[in-house]
Amino acid sequence: MAAKEHMASNVLWRGIIEEYRQFLPVAGETPVVTLQEGNTPLIKAVNLKKKGLDLELYFKFDGANPTGSFKDRGMTLALSKAVEAGSKAVICASTGNTSAAAAAYAAKAGIKAIVLIPQGKIALGKLAQALIHGSYVLQIEGNFDEALTIVKLLVEKYKITLVNSINPFRLEGQKTAAFEVCDQLGFAPKYHALPVGNAGNITAYWRGYKEYHANGNISSLPVMLGFQAAGAAPIVKGHPIERPETIATAIRIGNPASWKAAVAARDESGGRIEAVTDSEILNAYSLIASTEGIFCEPASATSLAGVIKLYKEGYLKSGASVVCTLTGHGLKDPDTVFRVTNEPAKVQADITAVERILEGILG
Ligand code: F0G
Repeated sequence: MAAKEHMASNVLWRGIIEEYRQFLPVAGETPVVTLQEGNTPLIKAVNLKKKGLDLELYFKFDGANPTGSFKDRGMTLALSKAVEAGSKAVICASTGNTSAAAAAYAAKAGIKAIVLIPQGKIALGKLAQALIHGSYVLQIEGNFDEALTIVKLLVEKYKITLVNSINPFRLEGQKTAAFEVCDQLGFAPKYHALPVGNAGNITAYWRGYKEYHANGNISSLPVMLGFQAAGAAPIVKGHPIERPETIATAIRIGNPASWKAAVAARDESGGRIEAVTDSEILNAYSLIASTEGIFCEPASATSLAGVIKLYKEGYLKSGASVVCTLTGHGLKDPDTVFRVTNEPAKVQADITAVERILEGILG
């Protein structure tokens, strides 16, 4: 019976707009453009504890969304409102995931998507998504910040809807991830850790937690922890970074649009925004996959890299409840896998040769 109920509730999940309608700026006549995003798993870490990370740690795996990242939560609302307003095209600058989501939701809505991406600096899977969904892909000979500046100027001149996170509906949709965490846990965690790029998501989560608190759904608020890559850490450094660099291309951003709001989330919650190195990010990326069975993209692992750092520093105490959002799926960026793994063994098509290797593996 329980199993059947569980299955039925999954089948009936209608996407974040219908599930959280009372908290969102939609009216009865708003056309809902959805791929049934949201309802992503909150997975308890079990093996990391055995490895010495003594926390009540959960991963909110938003890589399990339809296009493989948290952007779907914002894009369902941004596209629904764009269609409601009669828009025939949407545009964005992107490090990859926003463009993948914009392309998919525009396809569903039956309107055009134009995406500007930094040439050579987006993960292969994300580029593939933008192309297969039929968006117009423009590779800019520059970085994300430059692409965003161009896009902001273009929407002043042309009748196109901007769907970067400066579109207010994006963050409204994204705040539903905080609602889900509370619904899944039954309470708000003590800490919530996130990667920070353009700084929209940490802003959205903090808003979501505050709204759930004001509505009486939770009795406490989490401390917000944001992590930037060391080579792209403008908020930590206190000034824009002209040439941001990191292996975590999704957060290769030097001048975040929601800078002030992210700092407000940090300060109001009594939290921290810190930097982690690329090697700390890659270490966390491998660790999540090899110990907990979750394959996330490098930028997503920034949240765990930061948590490990703050645990080692003694800031996070044993037994504290921590949720790390894993923002995107690992399959988006297959190339990075080969930086942290060994080449597969080659072996003759001969059982004896295979057995020799097998015996080595089994010990
Ligand atoms: N993680 C992933 C996988 C991302 O794609 C992004 C942002 C972030 C974290 C950071 O979130 O910008 O709200 O602070 N990606 C954007 C994009 C910039 O274009 O796809 P943020």
